Amino acid sequence: MNNNSKLGVMEDTLELIIDSKSENESFARVAVAAFCTRLDPTLEEITDIKTAVSEAVTNCIVHGYEGGKGKIYINVNITGNTAEVIVKDSGVGIENIEKAMEPLYTTKPEQERSGMGFSFMEAFMDELEVSSARNKGTTVIMRKKIGESAGK
Ligand SMILES: Nc1ncnc2c1ncn2[C@@H]1O[C@H](COP(=O)(O)OP(=O)(O)OP(=O)(O)O)[C@@H](O)[C@H]1O
Ligand SMILES: [Mg+2]
Repeated sequence: MNNNSKLGVMEDTLELIIDSKSENESFARVAVAAFCTRLDPTLEEITDIKTAVSEAVTNCIVHGYEGGKGKIYINVNITGNTAEVIVKDSGVGIENIEKAMEPLYTTKPEQERSGMGFSFMEAFMDELEVSSARNKGTTVIMRKKIGESAGK
């Protein structure tokens, strides 16, 4: 028993492993959103989480595994009123994370990518951390406090 559970702070986790296929992206987005409903989010907060998960999972499929086979690991950790979502692949990795996170930067302009995925994750979540190693994979950690928006 850690301090949080002693103090009666809500803690809960979801672990999900999906094959890297675009059909699974919508499932992951809905599953994460459904798990987060225990925080009593507004519709806007749920939409924000769905958008961020969708961008992160799509990046694993399109960039991490470049359309090929692979597993995507998704974790949701709820602590108090904060949802932490971790999306991880074991794909090609990102060479320059700082550059990759710049708005409009994309390595796949020919696929009509707009380079806005990380910018959306940053805008719709409170915190975004990206770590990556070449040919080992990429991990995206996003956090959002629920119930902080005006009128709640
Ligand atoms: N999981 C990943 N594995 C490898 N490279 C990645 C991964 N996620 C992002 N990248 C790299 O970071 C760049 C920027 O990602 P971002 O999501 O912001 O834009 P995009 O995917 O290119 O375009 P959009 O998301 O607008 O369709 C990508 O073009 C890609 O080079
Ligand atoms: Mg993207």
